Amino acid sequence: MSTVLEMRGGGVTLGDRPILRAIDLTVEAGDVVALLGANGSGKSTLVRSITGLLPLSAGSARLFGQPIDSFNQWPRLGYVPQRSTIAQGVPATVTEVVAAGRLAHRRAFLPARAADRAAVRDALEAVGLTDRAQHQVSTLSGGQQQRVLIARTLAGAPELLVLDEPNAGVDLVSQQAIADTLERSARAGATIIVVLHELGAFAPFIDRAVVLREGRISYDGSPDGIRMHDPHVHCETNEDPALRVAAPLTGMELP
Ligand SMILES: Nc1ncnc2c1ncn2[C@@H]1O[C@H](COP(=O)(O)OP(=O)(O)O)[C@@H](O)[C@H]1O
Ligand SMILES: [Mg+2]
Repeated sequence: MSTVLEMRGGGVTLGDRPILRAIDLTVEAGDVVALLGANGSGKSTLVRSITGLLPLSAGSARLFGQPIDSFNQWPRLGYVPQRSTIAQGVPATVTEVVAAGRLAHRRAFLPARAADRAAVRDALEAVGLTDRAQHQVSTLSGGQQQRVLIARTLAGAPELLVLDEPNAGVDLVSQQAIADTLERSARAGATIIVVLHELGAFAPFIDRAVVLREGRISYDGSPDGIRMHDPHVHCETNEDPALRVAAPLTGMELP
């Protein structure tokens, strides 16, 4: 097994405020990790430090075995930030946005090769937007736009995929499409770190849950253990609602 991410004693300070403290996190190749925690607990900050966007103020981190401050293999990593409004006012077709995800693979100033076009086509198919390829991004729903951003990242064929709340403000059809896409990527061997508000449609293929609380890791283990650990963390799974009411009825006398 090879280690994709290793953070030891990681800390991040923003302004004068320590936001993350003593983060020990190891992610092996092929792991699918959900990052959970209340709003403001530091999930986005952790993800931004993993992707090299924020420097650590304490501790150390390695990506693919290389210290993060000298890491230079960025095409191996794909990052979908917490939802932004890329589409607003920017005239671009779905294909153009997704093709931007291939830039790191392109030779300077040369036209797209067949491999680039195939990667774009495959990524659009993965997120279920093949029929929208020539549409303007601004005409799509919020959920479809999120899928375009995910396709852009997939087109770069990253080994480590980091997504920050891909479901936020996304309709249920798109949520399921995103979950299906990530499940296929995971099966194909990708390593995934995904910030989620709740496991929802992702539950079936999440191996491990890491919960942040006030900038520290308060839980790291099986998703099944979270409810016991902290009932305040949202981690609804697709369990049968009938099972939930079974307990209170136990022992009741039936007529
Ligand atoms: N640029 C910043 N400067 C100062 N504080 C920040 C900045 N960004 C985020 N924070 C603070 O860091 C904490 C963690 O934020 P964040 O990582 O966005 O949490 P989450 O993603 O879990 O909601 C919050 O208290 C937030 O207010
Ligand atoms: Mg966040």
